[in-house]
Amino acid sequence: MKKEVTKIGVLTSGGDSPGMNACIRAVVRSGLYYNLEVYGIMRGYSGMVENDIIKMESRSVANIIQRGGTILKTSRCKEFYTPEGRQQAYNNLKKLGINGLVIIGGDGSFRGAQIFSNEFDIPCIGLPGTIDKDIAGTDFTIGFDTAVNTAVEAIDKIRDTADAHDRLFIIEVMGRDAGYIALHSGIATGAENILIPEKKTDIDSIIKSLQEKEKRQKLVNLIVVAEGEKFGGVELEKMIKERMPLLETRVCILGHIQRGGSPTCFDRLIASRMGYSAVESLIEGRHNIFVGILNNKMHYIPLDEAVKKKQHISEEWLKIVKILAT
Ligand code: F6P
Repeated sequence: MKKEVTKIGVLTSGGDSPGMNACIRAVVRSGLYYNLEVYGIMRGYSGMVENDIIKMESRSVANIIQRGGTILKTSRCKEFYTPEGRQQAYNNLKKLGINGLVIIGGDGSFRGAQIFSNEFDIPCIGLPGTIDKDIAGTDFTIGFDTAVNTAVEAIDKIRDTADAHDRLFIIEVMGRDAGYIALHSGIATGAENILIPEKKTDIDSIIKSLQEKEKRQKLVNLIVVAEGEKFGGVELEKMIKERMPLLETRVCILGHIQRGGSPTCFDRLIASRMGYSAVESLIEGRHNIFVGILNNKMHYIPLDEAVKKKQHISEEWLKIVKILAT
């Protein structure tokens, strides 16, 4: 029989993403609504290992739904990947009587949660908080929509100057090993080429299409490249310049701007729904799971399975890119 959950801890781990605060707020307020004690664990798993844990009240999460970053701070904690580190973390939680955990983070954070939940008797719920959208079992991750909108706003601005100077711009976006930010922002800004790690880059065909566009006097060209793609923005520019030395090119790496800023309405909504659902799951005994949203419905999968699944880029989207970028 599952033990009753009475005191829960919430933490944010890995790279921060806009909407994490909205999610913390949802966990805290839902927990209090169900008469649970709620604790905020600082700096991800580091706070668990180092006993940096604070009691949260309703007012602790006032005025944060619109803020980027995370009030609990975040980190990538090496100690937690050692058995000693996890034992220390467990001892600290036990001392406080915490018997349920909500982990908001990316796939690395879930792997930590999966190992911890298999070793100790504290149920864990993983919520997808990452701009990369590289987690299977959910249509969206908290922060992705905001990051894409930030990229779109920046690329629109770049298009203005690209047009004024008839230049080719190569814009590198984040996403770690995944191409979702590139794919979504590239389609939304009408990029001529979108290069992602999931699809082998064919440099010959890029050159051919640039030469063909040059002939048609189509001089504004935007290439959106994911940071995880084989070449990246700088290398790609070099290769293009070697073959088309007269083409004026610039590279713009958007970088961490994509991680900050006020979350979009969409991110605030999914963060609130997921935060609430995590608490409800702990109370109802759906333990050691990952909570996502698929087809607009809450979707639960065991953490053990969640860490093995991979997102797949839809072939249809890639076809759309090709057809629209003529
Ligand atoms: O996972 C989020 C992310 O922003 C990735 O897109 C990027 O590769 C990475 O984190 C950057 O990490 P850091 O902030 O440690 O440089």
